[in-house]
Amino acid sequence: MQEIFIKNEKELVDFGKKIATTLQGGDILCLYGDLGAGKTTLTKGVAQVFGIKQRIKSPTFTLFNVYFIQLNGKSLKFVHIDAYRLKDEDELLDIGIDDYLGNTETICVIEWAEKIPNLLKKKKCVEIRIEHAPTGRKIQY
Ligand SMILES: Nc1ncnc2c1ncn2[C@@H]1O[C@H](COP(=O)(O)OP(=O)(O)O)[C@@H](O)[C@H]1O
Ligand SMILES: [Mg+2]
Repeated sequence: MQEIFIKNEKELVDFGKKIATTLQGGDILCLYGDLGAGKTTLTKGVAQVFGIKQRIKSPTFTLFNVYFIQLNGKSLKFVHIDAYRLKDEDELLDIGIDDYLGNTETICVIEWAEKIPNLLKKKKCVEIRIEHAPTGRKIQY
């Protein structure tokens, strides 16, 4: 596991960009951290690398947003999930999340991944933890 310290929002976006370059179809990026830790900010960096022009907002009310991207000449979907307001995991299953999680044509980023342990049980996830630190944020990955 690696640990780094981030001083400001821009550095977190840049970290997201760095992580994005390691992602490929089928990957699930799980983000852990309190409200305001910077999960959405990191996701913005990821989205930039994938050429997503829309403004990335936490899909808190819609639960997830789907973006169509091109990666290495392939058409993929980028799915941004926010499980914060989820009452139970079936809610995401009911709206079809299992078509996306781990699908080789999809890259998923999940905020509040700790809310969906069962959905992720048999999936391979890349985990990133963001914590408030005196100088900004601490990231473990
Ligand atoms: N060092 C830092 N790294 C990232 N964000 C920071 C930092 N310091 C302050 N912020 C602010 O913290 C907030 C993080 O919000 P957001 O990314 O939406 O968090 P989350 O999605 O985890 O709830 C932003 O408003 C950002 O400007
Ligand atoms: Mg968020």
